Amino acid sequence: MPVKNRLADMHGQITKWRRHLHMHPELLYDVEETAGFVVDRLREIGVDDITPGIGKTGVVAVIKGRENTKGRVIGLRADMDALPIEEATGLDYASTVSGKMHACGHDGHTSMLLGAAQYLAETRNFDGTVVLIFQPAEEGGAGGLAMCQDGLMDRWGIQEVYGMHNMPGMPVGEFAIRPGALLASSDEFEIVVTGKGGHAAAPHDAVDTTLVASHIVVALQSVVSRTVDPIKRVVLTVGTFETDSAASNVIAHTVRLQGTVRTLDPEYRKIAEERVRRIAEDTASAFGATAKMTWTPGYPVTVNSEAETVFAAEAAEAVSGKINDSTDPIMPSEDFAYMLEERPGAYIFIGNGDTAMCHHPEYNFDDDAIPAGCSWFAELVERRMPVA
Ligand code: NI
Repeated sequence: MPVKNRLADMHGQITKWRRHLHMHPELLYDVEETAGFVVDRLREIGVDDITPGIGKTGVVAVIKGRENTKGRVIGLRADMDALPIEEATGLDYASTVSGKMHACGHDGHTSMLLGAAQYLAETRNFDGTVVLIFQPAEEGGAGGLAMCQDGLMDRWGIQEVYGMHNMPGMPVGEFAIRPGALLASSDEFEIVVTGKGGHAAAPHDAVDTTLVASHIVVALQSVVSRTVDPIKRVVLTVGTFETDSAASNVIAHTVRLQGTVRTLDPEYRKIAEERVRRIAEDTASAFGATAKMTWTPGYPVTVNSEAETVFAAEAAEAVSGKINDSTDPIMPSEDFAYMLEERPGAYIFIGNGDTAMCHHPEYNFDDDAIPAGCSWFAELVERRMPVA
């Protein structure tokens, strides 16, 4: 069974919604206009309940099926925020806000969930309850966590939760998924090394912090190569190296390093933190300097649960006629991970065709993906909660 006919008919209207959102991008939690647009559409659509202000600016809405004999409640999630990027697409509906752009397709995700909501509210061809989740601050602000902390799962009785992200380079209308880890965790560290500044010609009177920090950078490469099981996936990158010396004849007093650790295996987050701290402190000590390491945990690993991945894959196959259900994991992170820590569920990729990659100034969501994306949400609901 392909794309749902009703959703194919709504393609033009949903595309208009998407392009409106594209023209008016908002960042992080400051998505008041976007959330307002979502609420207005949900009112027109005639959903049963709308609650704004969850996770600061998130929106939660409810669509009840014909009955709910089994008491099943499924959450469907879309993200609403844009990125601080200057758009370079030259589209006639390009961003109207300087320095802000929907460069990750969240305009498409929000519009597709609205389209699915209209279909589900019109047809109610399911036995259960759908909770629509429109979240702010996916791009680094942990809006998904904020919604969970506002009681999202318990307050609405959500039992399973599903989300979707477009994927440039995959054919439009096709889907890819895998059980287990799909996207990486993303933690950050900062190391401040303090030695003793001095004259470049008198190193014996100084503790050369640049040399000490260089040894730390080199030693940090052993975290992945010598600590991690070779078949596991961990990345450690030192992204910045700043000394407080601005001259070639000055030995720096302090150096600040910043880096990130990404992994698909949650156990390695803790191990990496311990190894990074030990290497920084003990290497500095060996040279007569000191180091202070600060670890900032970011998004967890996005882990698809087994059964729900099968449900998501079956719905996708029904819509597109085929499914890649063993796609490779990727090392970006995604804050839907927080929702998957609270409930079983699955996250799926939908093809965005031959476009620039997400977060690129020439990226654009492909509106041709809309019927398939909306149909996946709708099909998932109808299959998971069939009318008796
Ligand atoms: Ni995104």
